[in-house]
Amino acid sequence: MFKRLRGILRKGNVKDGIDNSEDYLEKLDIARLPAHVAIIMDGNGRWAIKRGMPRSFGHRAGVKALRQIVEASVELKLKHLTVYAFSTENWKRPREEVNILMNLLVEYLHKEIESLCENNVKINPMGIISELPQHARDAVAMAIERSKNNTGLCFNIALNYGGRTELLMAVKEIGQKLLNGELEFAKIDEQAIANHLFTAGQPDPDLLIRPSGDYRVSNFLLWQLAYTEFWLTDTMWPDFNKTEFFKALLDYQRRERRYGGLLHK
Ligand code: FPP
Repeated sequence: MFKRLRGILRKGNVKDGIDNSEDYLEKLDIARLPAHVAIIMDGNGRWAIKRGMPRSFGHRAGVKALRQIVEASVELKLKHLTVYAFSTENWKRPREEVNILMNLLVEYLHKEIESLCENNVKINPMGIISELPQHARDAVAMAIERSKNNTGLCFNIALNYGGRTELLMAVKEIGQKLLNGELEFAKIDEQAIANHLFTAGQPDPDLLIRPSGDYRVSNFLLWQLAYTEFWLTDTMWPDFNKTEFFKALLDYQRRERRYGGLLHK
């Protein structure tokens, strides 16, 4: 399906909600794209309720938005994309909504795996996968297996993910290695911690996108976001599209990143 969209991306297509994308795309400096973009896909529920529809309608529309953004990431040859699909706190939602989200995940992975593989995308689920229902675990295992040799976009899907849980797990693993004599106390540094996170070996996100008008981190990538640039928009996730994505990337390229230092001494 991505191949079919090639070309459309450059021209823009109002029917697919991709109006104006060319304007933004042309302004982008392809050599200075972020290596890693993270997204909190928020606002599905409110988007649906506003239309007098059940929340599940919003989640389904959210999958469509996700598809567009993965396609755009492939087109732009981004190296890493991380999306927040289900948090450790999302279990507090009604069972019916949790089931819908799990079913959507399974459906998405089964429907998309072929085109994801054709486009060299590697699926990397992040979170406590063992606590997901069996059909979701099976779909995740299938996606990992089928995409394991791909070398293009690394597509991190945060599932049953929480930043604090991730840090707690890292601390425990490091503690266990100390007890086993596999790690020296003096060797515990920032890199050692990063190596025990789900994102081990990956660069920290350069850009975090949060739609839906909320201004919070929501327990997402707490360690990794230390120097990430934030881009917030009132657009609800189901309305997020390639134009919005390119807008965010363009804005990112206009920022001055100082990492606590000085750019001009
Ligand atoms: C937040 O919106 C969104 C979620 C908790 C789930 C995001 C999931 C998807 C976009 C679809 C499934 C994912 C995959 C990978 C197939 P919300 O429901 O909290 O919205 P609200 O803040 O308006 O209530």
